[in-house]
Formats: sequence, structure tokens, C-alpha cells
Amino acid sequence: MMIKPEAVAAGQVGRILAMAETNGFTIVELKTLRMDRELAERFYEVHRERPFFADLVRYMTSGPVVGVRVRREDAVRRMRELVGATDPAEAACGTIRFLYGTNLSQNAVHASDSPENALRELDLIFGGSIEG
Ligand code: CMP
Repeated sequence: MMIKPEAVAAGQVGRILAMAETNGFTIVELKTLRMDRELAERFYEVHRERPFFADLVRYMTSGPVVGVRVRREDAVRRMRELVGATDPAEAACGTIRFLYGTNLSQNAVHASDSPENALRELDLIFGGSIEG
């Protein structure tokens, strides 16, 4: 998971991490970083051809983000449930985006959409895997 710039700026990091822990995720690694354009473009490379790609990269490089490595059985699916729909206006009550998202772009957090993408994204942010 990645906590996006507007949620970091609004001081919602602790509340979002607490929601992950309350919902059974173990936080394994955390990193606050300011993504540069190259990293943001690689992170979101599956969206490279989408019309919103340039705005997405501009937004994700606009301030610090927090990368979050979590552990839990079936983590990708369950994290997507906890995070809610991409558009906060459509996110179910009680989800992270319902509570902390602002709009489709400023939607508080990113959650990996498949185990393969999770590994790729974790590698980009943290570099390699860790044991334990
Ligand atoms: P995220 O889960 O980080 O993955 C890609 C992001 O692109 C998505 O959340 C949205 O914040 C952002 N985005 C902006 N515009 C759109 C759009 N029209 N459709 C889907 N995602 C969008």
C-alpha cells in the first residue's frame, strides 16, 4: 500500500496504518519518500497509456508519500477490500477511501491490484524482499 501525498499532508498516516493493523495486517516495513518523476512513472507504468497518466505522475510527485509493506494471508484481496473503490464517492462506508479520500485522483491510498504487481511495486519502493 502507498499513502498518497494529500493524506500524508493532512496527517492521516497514523489513522490509516491503525486501520490496517485493526483489520489484521502486520506492518512489516514503512518508508516515507518523495517520488521523483522517473520512479512515479515506473510505479504506475501499467497506466502509461491512460489519459490521466501525466496528472497522476504530477500528483504523486507533489509531496511525500509513505510506502507500506504489510503481511496477511490473502493480503492483496483483503487490502483492496479495506481500501474501497478507486473513486471515494463510490467507496463503501468504513473503507479507507470513504473516510480519507477526496476525489478520484486524491484518493488517500494506492493498493496493489495483484500479487505480481505487489512484488514489483514493493521492489521499486523498498528494494528486494525481506524475511520474517
Ligand atoms: P491508484 O489505486 O493509485 O491507481 C491509479 C490511480 O490513478 C488511481 O488510484 C486514481 O487515483 C488515479 N486516477 C485518476 N484518474 C483516474 C481514472 N479516470 N480512472 C482510474 N484511475 C484514475
